[in-house]
Amino acid sequence: MKFFLVVGTRPNFMKLAPLWRELREHGEFEPYVIHTGQHYDYEMSQVFFEDLELPEPDFYLGVGSGTHAKQTADVMVRLEGLFLNEKPDAVIVFGDVNSTLAAAIVTSKLLIPLYHVEAGVRSFDRTMPEEINRVVTDALSNILFVPDDFAVENLKREGIDESKIFLVGNIMMDSLVTILDKIKSREESILKKYKLTPKEYGLVTLHRPSNVDSRDTFLKIYDILETIAKDIELVFPIHPRTGKNMKNWGMEFKQARVVDPLKYSEFIALQKNSLFVITDSGGVQTESSFLNVPCLTARPNTEWHITIENGTNTLVNHDKELILTLISEIKHGNYKTSDSIPLWDGKTAERIVEILLRQTVNGRR
Ligand code: UD1
Repeated sequence: MKFFLVVGTRPNFMKLAPLWRELREHGEFEPYVIHTGQHYDYEMSQVFFEDLELPEPDFYLGVGSGTHAKQTADVMVRLEGLFLNEKPDAVIVFGDVNSTLAAAIVTSKLLIPLYHVEAGVRSFDRTMPEEINRVVTDALSNILFVPDDFAVENLKREGIDESKIFLVGNIMMDSLVTILDKIKSREESILKKYKLTPKEYGLVTLHRPSNVDSRDTFLKIYDILETIAKDIELVFPIHPRTGKNMKNWGMEFKQARVVDPLKYSEFIALQKNSLFVITDSGGVQTESSFLNVPCLTARPNTEWHITIENGTNTLVNHDKELILTLISEIKHGNYKTSDSIPLWDGKTAERIVEILLRQTVNGRR
């Protein structure tokens, strides 16, 4: 069976790698990688293919940036032509980005089976573009691979037929387990490269439009980070969106240390050895719970409720007092620690492929 795996942005690549590898192990499947080009800078895209030992994409669509409508429409037009020519037997999409939504719409209108990996997660915040992408993609999908029990419940509540829902765990943890093994002997040298001492620094990532597109909001965050950084070193690998906006506003950090976006192996080494992370990324919330590193999420809500219940995550939004209190707890060893999260064990891709074998090769879907 010819499976087209569609990706476009940095967080998609960690979800793609384990599944692509597992599908290749089974002669029944012929997996092809389609890169939409939503992320195109070397350090947002190609470096991840290298780190994750992925081959060059089989098809590269080169859509680049634009408004949501333009970016989504460009992916749709290019994918439609590709699918009509290449006739895949099924299309697999990941996560919640614009490329995911575009692929979902094109696939279902061409009556090609659509499988969604990381289905069912919900922040219940429709001001986030990702939430719209999730709801629409899930409504169109024929098989939904979900990461946790919350996601199962969300889909049932939305009336998705239970026979389409499969609880398989979080596929990002598959990549995390693999990379942790690979960097075991290199962690020290990676920290040295950035002149960092284990557990003596905080790691920051911020890129959500709600945090970084308004100067007033970003100023609040800037003030919080600069206050923290007077006391403890902060390293901030900056997302292009955030970097561009700061440049336009003529803003620069004086205390926090801004660095270019990191490759996956380096980012994980820094995350694992940090005292805490401050983030608005979905992926980092999940990774930090797995790594048992305290995570302060600069958002009012999350699609990863499980990391609050079982993990190290706390929603802090822009509450300076709360953030400073929690950092003090972390320093004194009084912050909560992680319980293991069911099925976040590095074997999600295996479970997905077993299900695909049952559902597709046996001709049931
Ligand atoms: C996208 C996803 C978001 C995901 C994030 C991870 C959507 C709606 N959002 O947000 O869910 O968490 O990726 O990074 O799909 N840019 C570059 N170089 C690049 C890529 C982007 O300079 O390689 C610039 C673009 O020109 C644009 C900005 O970054 O100005 C935003 O890019 P875009 O892909 O639209 O959204 P992200 O903020 O990256």
